[in-house]
Amino acid sequence: MALLVGVISQKGGVSKSTIARLIAREYAAAGWDVKIADLDISQGTSTDWKQRREVNDIKPEVAVEQFRTVAQALKHADVYDLMILDGPPHSMQGTLEIARASDLLVLPTGLSLDDLKPSVLLAHELVKAKIAVEKIVFVLCRVGDRENEIEEARSYIHKAGYATIEGSIPEKTAYRQASDNGRAISEVTFPTLKQRAEQVVQGIIDLLSEE
Ligand SMILES: Nc1ncnc2c1ncn2[C@@H]1O[C@H](COP(=O)(O)OP(=O)(O)OP(=O)(O)O)[C@@H](O)[C@H]1O
Ligand SMILES: [Mg+2]
Repeated sequence: MALLVGVISQKGGVSKSTIARLIAREYAAAGWDVKIADLDISQGTSTDWKQRREVNDIKPEVAVEQFRTVAQALKHADVYDLMILDGPPHSMQGTLEIARASDLLVLPTGLSLDDLKPSVLLAHELVKAKIAVEKIVFVLCRVGDRENEIEEARSYIHKAGYATIEGSIPEKTAYRQASDNGRAISEVTFPTLKQRAEQVVQGIIDLLSEE
């Protein structure tokens, strides 16, 4: 059975797919057999991203497939070492199904209260639905350059009872362009941005290696 990582949020555009691709790319580069299950049927953005990756001949290849339901994705999980469930926005049912299936749940969130509060509420909902709190981890995404703002957001999440991945992903044109070109955010050329993406994914790899 593959290791399963769910990347989820009730909100749209918080970087779920960006983080899903980052994790998938790093494991694929390490020789793992990885698939992103694109569960966002209405948009299919990771499926489009894979096509851009192919057109631009970027290696390693990262497999992406669209699945209508989590159950269907799970039927195909056996042949992989790792499956990343790239969740849809605005679907509590879909999110819960991902949560139940996953070994680790990654919740990307922005720093504003408008982002943090619903993210923590989602985590509370998951715990209420008997998802182990140890499976849940937040990643601070689309952050600005104020260190104190980042640390305040981190402490908000910790006070609510949840863990965060060390480091954060800044909002940067270079990341957007990388994604537009079929790259993961660890495949940017700017060394500091590459490093920040790598630090975040290393935190996720560390958690998964405890599984
Ligand atoms: N740190 C960042 N800096 C710049 N652009 C970013 C960053 N993170 C994400 N983006 C861009 O923002 C858009 C939304 O990101 P992404 O698709 O990862 O979010 P999502 O949570 O999967 O959205 P959806 O809810 O629509 O599935 C994409 O165009 C992506 O390239
Ligand atoms: Mg998405």
